[in-house]
Amino acid sequence: MEFDLFSVCSDDFSHLSLVCIINTDQSMQNQNSTKKVGLLLGGSGLIGGAITHYFKTRVGQEIEILAPNSKKLSLRVPHDIKQYLKKRKPDFIINAAIASIDSGPLIAMETNYIAAINLAKAAIHLKIPYIHISSSATMPPGTNLVEDQLLPLHAGMSNYPKSKLMAELTLKYLGESEGLDYTVIRLAVVYGKHDHKIQGFHRLFFSIVDQAVPFMLTKKGVSHSYSNTKKLPPFIHYILENREEFSGQAYNFVDPEPAELSKVILTIKAYLQLSLPKEIYIPYPLALLAKSWLKWITRKLSIISVEARMPAELMFLGNFYESQTLSSEKLAASSYGQVDSETTVFTELPQMIEYYLTRWGHLNLIETYNESFYLPKTYGNDFISAPRSVVELVQSKSEEILTDFSDLDE
Ligand SMILES: NC(=O)c1ccc[n+]([C@@H]2O[C@H](COP(=O)([O-])OP(=O)(O)OC[C@H]3O[C@@H](n4cnc5c(N)ncnc54)[C@H](OP(=O)(O)O)[C@@H]3O)[C@@H](O)[C@H]2O)c1
Repeated sequence: MEFDLFSVCSDDFSHLSLVCIINTDQSMQNQNSTKKVGLLLGGSGLIGGAITHYFKTRVGQEIEILAPNSKKLSLRVPHDIKQYLKKRKPDFIINAAIASIDSGPLIAMETNYIAAINLAKAAIHLKIPYIHISSSATMPPGTNLVEDQLLPLHAGMSNYPKSKLMAELTLKYLGESEGLDYTVIRLAVVYGKHDHKIQGFHRLFFSIVDQAVPFMLTKKGVSHSYSNTKKLPPFIHYILENREEFSGQAYNFVDPEPAELSKVILTIKAYLQLSLPKEIYIPYPLALLAKSWLKWITRKLSIISVEARMPAELMFLGNFYESQTLSSEKLAASSYGQVDSETTVFTELPQMIEYYLTRWGHLNLIETYNESFYLPKTYGNDFISAPRSVVELVQSKSEEILTDFSDLDE
């Protein structure tokens, strides 16, 4: 097993910078124009897609984002990284790539840890900023957790949180020891459109829509922090322009108000007028038992060649029963501040329901839903908890929601 950490070949890398300047047309272009070029890893993913979309549509000509997919640039192949950087010398690197959360130890370590540090080492040699997307999985359960409240690293951790935590620890070390210009942006439960892999929160959402959750797999009062995919890219843009303040820092990038899981589930259920899940709260030990039973069934099914997989998210079952809320005070106190704090998972649910139901229906993943289920006429819960979203819907889609009185003119 060979890990090509660039520290091992740092001479090579200084050479690389030289080669870039002398050799590639593109680097000459970068130098001659004022346009900045950013390398984004994970551009086809949920977070990376939102970043690409923002820079392409909102930022205009001043920044170009290069987002090679994993076939063109596999982070697990250090040679790929080096070759790519030789051709295109970026002004910054954003890493939103991640191995799938149920990956084995080797892939998780190579993609989430070693590759992240290889990119950081490259950034040191190119003297450019490195923006690293991380996860609240690196933090313990608890409420109002501040940025440096990380889990202790230990062998028994699952591969995903372990590899993400290791990356954060080494980035801090490289910042202190080698002057790496980095920012860690820590996301919690991510919500937004365009999750084509249906992971995390959207997997839970899908399970409710698919009527696969008969009872409440949580307990009352359990809350989590949420991160909105659309809010993140403007923050990245801002911190790239303000390196002095944001360099060497980690930020919890979450909505200021946490959301109670049972309330999120029941709101989705209410919008869609579903009968499940029943409002019966399954205690954790019983949920664990059900998980083991499901695991057993899926193994047995494979004996008769029926392919069945447990959703990877079930590895986080414990999180459904424990609050984890992150403090956004550091973000709010920064010069960026807490932008768009009125947008929450509750205000976004109507649009997300409309988007995902249409998409999943087209993909034949779910029975087609009656559209009237997600039209705003049924938004009684929003009137109580998110009146602003009702006002916005009425104002933007008035013809669908309000009665047409135009014939009174006659
Ligand atoms: N989604 C969430 O709920 C959530 C929550 C907290 C934190 N985060 C963090 O947000 C970041 C992005 O997550 P996401 O949800 O956007 O992930 P995602 O949708 O699963 O996308 C993963 C991306 O990583 C790329 N990738 C995987 N292996 C690669 C490799 N070997 N080389 C190059 N690229 C590779 C994939 O590219 P290909 O498609 O080309 O293979 C894909 O673009 C991660 O750091 C994650 O920890 C996510």
